[in-house]
Amino acid sequence: MNLLAKTFQGLEDLLAQELQEIGAWNIKPLKRAVSFDANKEILYKSNLCLRTALRILQPITNFRARNEKELYNQVYNYKWSNLLKQNQTFAIDAVTFSKTFTHSQYVALKTKDAIVDHFKNIDGSRPNVDTISPDLLINVHITNDKVTLSLDSSGYSLHKRGYRQGDHRAPINEVLAAGMVLLSQWDKKQPLIDPMCGSGTILMEAAMIAANIPPNINRKKFGFERWNNFDADLWTKIKDEANSKIVQPSVKISGSDINAKAVDIARQSALDFKLKQFITITQEDFLQKEPEWKKGLIIMNPPYGERLKPHDTINFYKEIGNQLKRNFAGFDAWIISSNFDALKNIGLKPSKKITLFNGSLECKFERFSLYEGSNK
Ligand SMILES: C[S@@+](CC[C@H](N)C(=O)[O-])C[C@H]1O[C@@H](n2cnc3c(N)ncnc32)[C@H](O)[C@@H]1O
Repeated sequence: MNLLAKTFQGLEDLLAQELQEIGAWNIKPLKRAVSFDANKEILYKSNLCLRTALRILQPITNFRARNEKELYNQVYNYKWSNLLKQNQTFAIDAVTFSKTFTHSQYVALKTKDAIVDHFKNIDGSRPNVDTISPDLLINVHITNDKVTLSLDSSGYSLHKRGYRQGDHRAPINEVLAAGMVLLSQWDKKQPLIDPMCGSGTILMEAAMIAANIPPNINRKKFGFERWNNFDADLWTKIKDEANSKIVQPSVKISGSDINAKAVDIARQSALDFKLKQFITITQEDFLQKEPEWKKGLIIMNPPYGERLKPHDTINFYKEIGNQLKRNFAGFDAWIISSNFDALKNIGLKPSKKITLFNGSLECKFERFSLYEGSNK
């Protein structure tokens, strides 16, 4: 079967590499997605093991629709009874890039009506809509007049790993955080530090990478578990196999944040997810921080400056640069920010620059290599 793994712009090549590692074939990176071929085993594995995928979709049909009537008719005529029973529930997720279909909610409504009418006209009974926990989540994707209907095998976004505790402002998306750790080419041997760790997302993703823990091993639900062709034995076998590959890393992962509440949230997530043994988290101002090791890798996601005056943000980034030069010679520091002016004020020449998107927000992920003497 042909599948589509969705991701953030900038992570497509990483995702293609991850797909290669789990045994998918015909892998083709696209924009914000990777197309691949797979069997049921790889479909289940892709949901469990891919760190940089947001959803795994299984396209079931595509057609052209120039107006809502054509959309309705094409959806109505699809053989839904192969996938859905009258006593099951479903929901529609619509994404549109089209001058004709400008409102995705309306497209979702029309698609829902066509499916309901399809069933009603068989014997009067119909499946109900359940937007919270449907048996079948159907994805409608429209580009101009090209419509693709897919089944969402994930059910809800794969970034919801199940470890996030409490609410911290501006947490980075788990999929992006995992992508950043992988892009940094961390060797899983040198210490990894996030000195502005907030709720600890980068630390958690790094610990899971080091321990070879599948990112979604603790997730409660996947869409495919409710499909009519679900193979429970195969799913158990895949999870057991993945669990048996978990290792005990000896690497050090450490986080800190100036904010006490953030530190509590990060500690709780690490504790609940049984990652506490690999991660230490302290409350500390990065600008006063003394490194615990002589060298290592820093990955940080400083505030972008929404709550500060522009001048203060520039000064803050200057201070970050000064602190890196002063105390972190021997380290590589990766910094992600959407504030490009502020990034320029780090005062160090980036040795690598990668454009990433946090949702729709364009960011730069830059590496600063801090040799002895960067200070001069
Ligand atoms: C964008 S948030 C990081 C979010 C984090 N990546 C997450 O996933 O939750 C920026 C963090 O930097 C912290 N911060 C700001 N100034 C700091 C400083 N001087 N030292 C340490 N942490 C600081 C804030 O408290 C906030 O938690």
